[in-house]
Amino acid sequence: MLTFKRGEKFSKKAHTIFIPVIDGKVSASEISKLFNLDLADELSFFWQGEKPLKAGECFEIPVSAEGYKCDRLIFISLGKLENSDLRLAGAALGRKLRGKEGLAHVELKLKAAQAKSFLISANLGNFTWTLKSNSKELNLNLEITDVDEAIIHQAQTISDAVNRARQLIHTPSNIKNPEWIARQAKKYANGAKVEVKSGVALKEFGGLRAVGGSSPKPGPRFITMSYEPRRTSGKSKVNSKVKSKVKHVVIVGKGITYDTGGISLKRPYDIMTPMKSDMAGAAACLATMSALKDLEVNVKVTALLMCAENSISATAQRPGDVITHYGGKTVEVLNTDAEGRLVLADGLAYAVKKLKPDYLIDIATLTGSATLGLGKQYAALYSRNLKWIKELREAGEISGDRVWHMPLIDDYESALESDIADINHTADKGDFNAGSVTAALFLEQFVDETNWAHLDIAGVGRSESDSGENPKGGTGWGVRLLLEWIGKLK
Ligand code: BES
Ligand code: MN
Ligand code: ZN
Repeated sequence: MLTFKRGEKFSKKAHTIFIPVIDGKVSASEISKLFNLDLADELSFFWQGEKPLKAGECFEIPVSAEGYKCDRLIFISLGKLENSDLRLAGAALGRKLRGKEGLAHVELKLKAAQAKSFLISANLGNFTWTLKSNSKELNLNLEITDVDEAIIHQAQTISDAVNRARQLIHTPSNIKNPEWIARQAKKYANGAKVEVKSGVALKEFGGLRAVGGSSPKPGPRFITMSYEPRRTSGKSKVNSKVKSKVKHVVIVGKGITYDTGGISLKRPYDIMTPMKSDMAGAAACLATMSALKDLEVNVKVTALLMCAENSISATAQRPGDVITHYGGKTVEVLNTDAEGRLVLADGLAYAVKKLKPDYLIDIATLTGSATLGLGKQYAALYSRNLKWIKELREAGEISGDRVWHMPLIDDYESALESDIADINHTADKGDFNAGSVTAALFLEQFVDETNWAHLDIAGVGRSESDSGENPKGGTGWGVRLLLEWIGKLK
């Protein structure tokens, strides 16, 4: 685990010093003196007339000085200080320190927002996850000079939350089931209220029951986490005024702890192997909730984690079943592998009826189609609220969790028609070939007039390679976006 510490000056105990290279230049006079080096000279030696280092590129030189533990300097390029440069550089620093304990040092003469991006990525790049029997917990500290305490605290909180989501996603499905997620929600609630519905309490949640009925006990869970901002002290009159103005955001996460496809079994079978990640939406919601108090967020936020395992058994739902969702809408199930929208529909309908939020947003590894046009770097964002879309796009660019606005194409809505129920759930009528769009249109049936956005994170939720800020596996996508957007919401 990487812990940031604000330092006044370079400590003798640091084993590694990072020297930022900004637009090809270094400035670290104290360290130059200490190790008797001309850093600019060292740097140009390594360039050897070649192109300057790209953001995130590093090189090391061994050093020694009497009384100092440091045995290596690592030059690390921050490019031209673009936000994306800072993220690459931060991640590179974190990666260099993987597997290390003790203390490292970096001096960051940056603007607050730049330092924040850099530090968040440093903790993300440092992340590893293993069940190897010989592994041990590593305690690594990064001493940072020239950055405000408040920025260091924010960066730590946000990046720890992303890494928390990753841990949940990396956990294999023989360990995690919906009840396990409920326990994690309680463990990391950080003051948020947690309520768990199971068994008969799920009577009205036909989607969650249909999907979760396929797996053995403990079965599906509907987990609510609610965060209320701390009231500012003062007279009660002022308080009630403040309270009435506070916005309410509801986030709904797909929490399928494993997706076999159900009776409509996934084929070829190897596409099933990564499906422990199918709860990445719920993980992002849970981790977001865990950070709200420490970031002193002044918004009321409720997370609904729709948790079930999509298994295959004699109690599994069948293609051809008709289920009744929360609120009464009937849905003809055509393909049991389109389970995500079934659990989300209950959550959305419940949020609209019971919670009446100002903003309702769901986040789900919903369709393979989402990656067809956008690849694995942008999430597909659906909403009818253009102002909100703009805010989410900006929050994405700032935080690194980028979104692309996709259209809710009304012409395709006829694909949802069913002969025997209100709608069919795979949108198979007609031949529109727009799986991510029609899935979004399906969800929209459950939100009435509520201000709603849908994030399809099937592409971004999981990385196939260990590179940049991401480990191989769950990325924790969405935590940074939600915290950035909610943090700025008035
Ligand atoms: N969990 C999958 C979507 C997915 C695919 C996530 C790849 C991450 C990577 C989802 O439940 C699913 O199976 N969707 C189907 C829907 C189809 C049956 C209408 C899909 O996208 O193929
Ligand atoms: Mn599926
Ligand atoms: Zn799924």
